[in-house]
Amino acid sequence: MAVEYLRISLTDRCNLNCIYCTPKEKRAFLKHEELLRHEEIARAAAGFVSAGVKKIRLTGGEPLVKKNIIGLVSMLRAIPGLQELTLTTNGLLLGGMAVPLRKAGLDRVNISLDTLQPANFRKITGSEGLEDVWDGLMASLKAGFSEVKLNVVIMKGINDAEVPEFARLAIDFPLTVRFIEFFPTNERSARLKDALFTTAEAKKKIEEVYGPLEQLPPGASDGPARVYKRRGGKGKIGFISGRSDYFCGACNRVRMDCTGKVYPCLFSPSTHNLRDHLRSGEDDASLAEYIKKIFLVKSNYKKDSGSAGHIEMSSLGG
Ligand code: GTP
Ligand code: 5AD
Repeated sequence: MAVEYLRISLTDRCNLNCIYCTPKEKRAFLKHEELLRHEEIARAAAGFVSAGVKKIRLTGGEPLVKKNIIGLVSMLRAIPGLQELTLTTNGLLLGGMAVPLRKAGLDRVNISLDTLQPANFRKITGSEGLEDVWDGLMASLKAGFSEVKLNVVIMKGINDAEVPEFARLAIDFPLTVRFIEFFPTNERSARLKDALFTTAEAKKKIEEVYGPLEQLPPGASDGPARVYKRRGGKGKIGFISGRSDYFCGACNRVRMDCTGKVYPCLFSPSTHNLRDHLRSGEDDASLAEYIKKIFLVKSNYKKDSGSAGHIEMSSLGG
């Protein structure tokens, strides 16, 4: 697969502390000089686009806690040849930022939300804020994005009872609700390894309540999801089956973290660091050539050679 999709993790900071992600108390935040400046991120991104990337997604930690993210979105939007600029957020700060982000050129947004119940929100995220996320969701539906997706990681015994309620949102709103199979990524999430609730189980539960779902032909913005519709529904229902359906063969993405480290796979160690290249006075053409070499490493990468079990979603952003 050609590499056409770059995920940039802008920060390892997050304003939530979810049960499957890195605990706040364990985090040693990075030093200022280790972090790429916005100009460096934009230059790296332009290098990736010259090397063939068409879509960029901003992630975190939580990308909206990053200072002047609106300015960064404008800089990235100005990169010639970039077809789509997107962002994945926990939605807490989205209420006030959806319109400015859209105006700055963000094409669409994915919101991570695993529960619709305040008590469960507290349990899963360690925080208050469900109402703020809801405001963020509603604001993004009105802001003119090409699509708004809701990412729901389903965990048995924790939020699987809420599957029909989430599916209902895809009937009532022009939203794509995606149910994601939980995968253990590190020690903390390994505690939840028995919490897998499969796509088949989730789909069955939805169909029991709302009747048959009709599979849609694959769409350009589907990513790893299989997407369905319930007759008469305003939105769509997707399933991301990382555990029950091996989709590595179709992977077209690389990841860069906020220090410039590049990862050919979510489960691989970082193989390259762009920060030194960005700071060495190298010209844009050689930067793009270097990035093309990174892509070759990805095409040769074998999943089982990686470091599965030690992924920090809080710094790599999924
Ligand atoms: P779209 O561009 O809207 O399709 O978004 P996306 O799915 O690429 O990005 P998002 O940040 O919304 O991630 C959604 C989920 O996809 C993540 O929670 C992961 O569960 C899953 N995912 C993303 N990348 C990978 C990957 O490389 N491997 C596996 N196994 N799962 C992935
Ligand atoms: N398994 C599945 N999805 C996960 N995410 C974070 N950790 C996991 C995990 N262990 C999801 C988040 C977010 C997306 C980027 O990754 O909920 O929506």
